[in-house]
Amino acid sequence: MENTENTPKKVMLSGIQPSGDLHLGNYLGAIKNWAERAEQYDCFYFMADMHTITVRQNPADLRRRTVEQLAQYIACGLDPERNTLFIQSHVHQHAELGWILNCYTMFGELSRMTQFKDKAARHQENVNGGLFTYPCLMAADILLYQPDYVPVGEDQKQHVELTRNIVQRFNGIYGEVFKMPEPFIPKAGARVMGLSAPDTKMSKSVPEGCVFLMEPEEDIRRKFKRAVTDSDTERCVHYDPERKPGVSNLMTIYSAVTGRSYDEIEKEFEGQGYGVFKPAVGEAVIETLRPIREETRRLLKDKAYLESVYRAGAEKASYVAEKTLRKVYKKIGFVQR
Ligand code: TYM
Repeated sequence: MENTENTPKKVMLSGIQPSGDLHLGNYLGAIKNWAERAEQYDCFYFMADMHTITVRQNPADLRRRTVEQLAQYIACGLDPERNTLFIQSHVHQHAELGWILNCYTMFGELSRMTQFKDKAARHQENVNGGLFTYPCLMAADILLYQPDYVPVGEDQKQHVELTRNIVQRFNGIYGEVFKMPEPFIPKAGARVMGLSAPDTKMSKSVPEGCVFLMEPEEDIRRKFKRAVTDSDTERCVHYDPERKPGVSNLMTIYSAVTGRSYDEIEKEFEGQGYGVFKPAVGEAVIETLRPIREETRRLLKDKAYLESVYRAGAEKASYVAEKTLRKVYKKIGFVQR
């Protein structure tokens, strides 16, 4: 994955839905990974606002969260000068290619998507067409920018795999139109589990087990102190996701924020129980999030700056997206304007 000076930079692309406040799972599973590679790659990161409406949103909240999410991207280390940061709905090519890819994706493939099955079960009153075909829009988000890598958490891997199937099908008919993207999953933090129930992933839908980036430090401290650990008799800090899912999850979080290996963590807490370990993880997370929170607050006071970032981002993104879309239109037989 190294770039030499003579080869063009490889491309990375990803997005997050502004359907809730960003949490530690989003940070460790995705954004941290993005920020660490901003120098090495040509990067496109966006607020996936079009995806959020597969579930009903309050319009004012959606608008606010979309801009807040941009501020948090920047605060997490994504420099707008080096990364193209934009709002999905500002780049109309996403919806256009999304429609086309709908026609190259099979009902059976979409029926197998676990996120669809989960969300359909949770929102039985609103199992709409968009929820079902959403992975086609995600494939369009990706393919418009011809990325080499798509850095996501484990739960999005299935959608990237589907995108790869679509590429194979489409290129099989029309030639090399799309580049084959690869999912890029972090070693530590690909699947952060909830603090209150370590058998389900951390998500905003279970707020008591979810640590939000903008949450007050006292609340974070309390959530870690109360984190569910395991009922084994040893009560030692040891990595064993099968038998000790609670402690193993905390070790994953600690490892991701401190960079220490599981062996090093076991040594650090040797002879000490969960009562020492849990608050230590909390403090390490608080230390990591503090500068992000402070920078986000500062940025949110400067709405004009944020607006200039998302405008410039949309312009750059549109330029790239349009090139791919033109090529697709031509290949499938649409008359050129
Ligand atoms: P979304 O908005 O649900 O999540 C955003 C990113 O955060 C990761 N993530 C987690 N990682 C580790 N542990 C967790 N508990 C956890 N929860 C969330 C997700 O894996 C994801 O990387 N469909 C996407 C958004 C999207 C997208 C795209 C992503 C739309 N278009 C194109 C990549 C490329 C989604 O719903 O992610």
